[in-house]
Amino acid sequence: MSGQDLTRREALRYGLGGAAFVCSFNLDKFAKPITGVTAAGRRRTLAAALDPLPADLPLPPVLQPVRRSKGLDEYAITMKEGVARILPGVDTPIAGYEGSFPGPTVRAKQGRAVRVTQTNALAEELVVHLHGGMTPPESDGHPSQVIQPGGGQRVFDYPNKQPGATLWYHNHSHGNTGRTVYGGLAAFYLLDDDDEAHLDLPKGPYDVPLMIADRSFNADGSFRYRFDVEPGFRGDTVLVNGAIAPRMAVQRRRYRFRILNASNARPYELVLGNGRTMTQIASDSGLLPKPVARGVIPMQPAERVDVVIDFSQFGKGAKVVLHNAAGEANTTAVMRFDVVGGGGAEEFRVPRKLRALEKVPSPNAERIWPLNIGGLAQPTWNIGGASFDTDRIDCRPRLGTSERWTFINDSVRAHPMHLHGCRFRVLSQGGKAPHPADAGWKDTVAVLPGETVVVQPYFDGFGGRYVFHCHNSEHGDQAMMGQMEVVA
Ligand code: C2O
Ligand code: CU
Ligand code: CU
Repeated sequence: MSGQDLTRREALRYGLGGAAFVCSFNLDKFAKPITGVTAAGRRRTLAAALDPLPADLPLPPVLQPVRRSKGLDEYAITMKEGVARILPGVDTPIAGYEGSFPGPTVRAKQGRAVRVTQTNALAEELVVHLHGGMTPPESDGHPSQVIQPGGGQRVFDYPNKQPGATLWYHNHSHGNTGRTVYGGLAAFYLLDDDDEAHLDLPKGPYDVPLMIADRSFNADGSFRYRFDVEPGFRGDTVLVNGAIAPRMAVQRRRYRFRILNASNARPYELVLGNGRTMTQIASDSGLLPKPVARGVIPMQPAERVDVVIDFSQFGKGAKVVLHNAAGEANTTAVMRFDVVGGGGAEEFRVPRKLRALEKVPSPNAERIWPLNIGGLAQPTWNIGGASFDTDRIDCRPRLGTSERWTFINDSVRAHPMHLHGCRFRVLSQGGKAPHPADAGWKDTVAVLPGETVVVQPYFDGFGGRYVFHCHNSEHGDQAMMGQMEVVA
């Protein structure tokens, strides 16, 4: 394999040097000394197999409904303690949905409502938010919608009227989102729709969710976490679906991957092999108007990207690494695809047109949101000078209208800004038109250091109170979050 897919300058920029990332894995990355007790340190002390990619890709279980009636699927989920086997020879205690990390996947269909009864069997107040869901405010998982510990319950109604999208649910208790999501409270909610089902995109076993999240470990195998408001917590090891840089056997055919950056604060730049093309078909809130070829995919926390990868371009036996060009040491390798035979006649394809973008009414209000850090001894993040306060409403958009929101990043950190209760279009990013892959519906947008980003949220869902915040979890916790009231 040559580096022909990347120019030399790009290769240097992504730190690939001359390494053949398609067929080999750079073992040196794992030999670097790392301070503290980390996953890498753990692997060395355990003298475990030096295979850098030891685990097969796990798939989170798909949750089965407890009841199915006309137009409604009912689920029951308990948030509880559990144990994950991530490192060789030691257990990692987690606290997750049904005691697993990642939690179980909910598969929903447009037009069929979902009702989830959540039970909190953990020892602290929790909040369940469906990220990207167009849900009535009572079911959104606003930080004030606390479920009491020790058996408290709350019922969530998800109407699923919006088009298909890769959504996820996670904890949202204010001030504790970073620690609890890190501890395991994160899972997929995959919403399909009929139009999408008729597009011949890869389905069934060829439609694979990938939850990317960084973690660090203590010597006893437990997750290591320290609240770090600036820059936000970063782990030293990348997990996909709860396994360290795992491998997946793939046939020589097309696969759809629904990639979620579920990390607290770590951004990624995903590159396949030495810059092979991935075909992006969807962003946060569903299908793009048409597929977009990508060599590098930047992903801030909470963003989702659906791609189709055609493995028929590789020979049998090829080992193709998906890596993070923005990583260092153990955060470079994300996972590896081992191309086995098979494939046969391809039944899936990527149509040239995916979904027409709906028209949005022109904005009828303008909001400017400077993003900044303040505080004296203790730094705190703010939006427009104000940190989160449940008793303060920062704006009142009208239901059925759209607005123009400008985020001005006056800080040296990236802020993935996320709005609840609506979807938005990106109008400009750093003074330029958005990348075509960011020109569909989104709910989270990268506002890079020193940059200004303009979005157009469309409040076509429900009236009521919703938050908007930075999805660097530690920034959101302290306390880069505002509140809107969508008024009828
Ligand atoms: Cu993914 Cu307000 O959250
Ligand atoms: Cu959200
Ligand atoms: Cu931030």
